Amino acid sequence: MLIQLSKGQLEITYLATLETLNNTENQEDQEVKNGLTKCPKTLPSKYFYDARGSELFEQICELPEYYPTRTEAWILQEYAKEIAQITGACELVELGSGSSTKTRLLLDAYQTQEELCKYVPIDVSESILKDSAIQLQKDYPSLQIQGLVGTYNQALTQLKATSLPGRMIFFLGSSIGNFSPSDCNHFLNKITEVLEIGDYFLLGIDLQKPQSILEDAYNDSQGVTAAFNLNMLSHLNQKYQGDFDLNLFAHQAIYNTEENQIEMYLISQQIQVVNLKNLDLTVKLEKNEMILTEISRKFNLNQVKKQLETKGLKTIKIFTDPQNWFGLILCQVIK
Ligand code: AVJ
Repeated sequence: MLIQLSKGQLEITYLATLETLNNTENQEDQEVKNGLTKCPKTLPSKYFYDARGSELFEQICELPEYYPTRTEAWILQEYAKEIAQITGACELVELGSGSSTKTRLLLDAYQTQEELCKYVPIDVSESILKDSAIQLQKDYPSLQIQGLVGTYNQALTQLKATSLPGRMIFFLGSSIGNFSPSDCNHFLNKITEVLEIGDYFLLGIDLQKPQSILEDAYNDSQGVTAAFNLNMLSHLNQKYQGDFDLNLFAHQAIYNTEENQIEMYLISQQIQVVNLKNLDLTVKLEKNEMILTEISRKFNLNQVKKQLETKGLKTIKIFTDPQNWFGLILCQVIK
């Protein structure tokens, strides 16, 4: 489905409809079913992001303990111009664009260069994509915006060839940290597949640091991260006519020092049974049983650089902050 929100400049395409055609909706249901019937139980992180979840994530980004957003924004503020100079005119494709707040730093850099460019934001949350695209259109009237509502996978499979001289896909906020090593591997294969030789990939990664800083960032004192984590259950209740009782779960984030990853859990506060009508699923939970809702891997710049190289993605430049808490890797597809 194509909805024209204004003439020419702003367009929103719903990839979710194609998903139904391809029968991947069932595959998504299966993911939830599998996650809740295996041991330990897991749920896919993408279900954080309904309208409320995207809002809560925006609030997380403002928390004093949650350093990644402001650190990455600092790096972009400092180096966006240089990035724009290196890539030149291109189509800017953003995976998981959310509110597109940090993106503005990049767009500003491309605009002052008066480079011909087009912005393709992609997000699973329709409401936040629409709202931020409309706002962006107001603030950047000459920018062409083509928003895509869908998952990373759908977007990367359905991305059309660009008419611009080149393309840069960017994936900020260390969202790549949500992928297991094997999913990450597949994801990077997909990126290389979609890009042409000479195209760019800009990747934001959260770097390894002391455990207490990490655990504070994911167990904030105001309880916003807890609300974000619990909100996944409301989302699933809506999507599948479920009866998760949010009062019967507690949030906890733990840093796994062996795997270098934050693990976010919802912990069942008592023995309970949950029904998800639309999935025909009844789930039994023990007292203190944990459901893993997210991993957030913390990286080593050199290791990531090496992995990118194995995919034909050559690092052009690495940008970091003075504390080395966060990294932005700009790489280019080579032959
Ligand atoms: C959007 C996946 C990068 O892992 O830090 C924030 C999500 N979860 N607080 C992250 C998140 C809890 C965030 N990413």
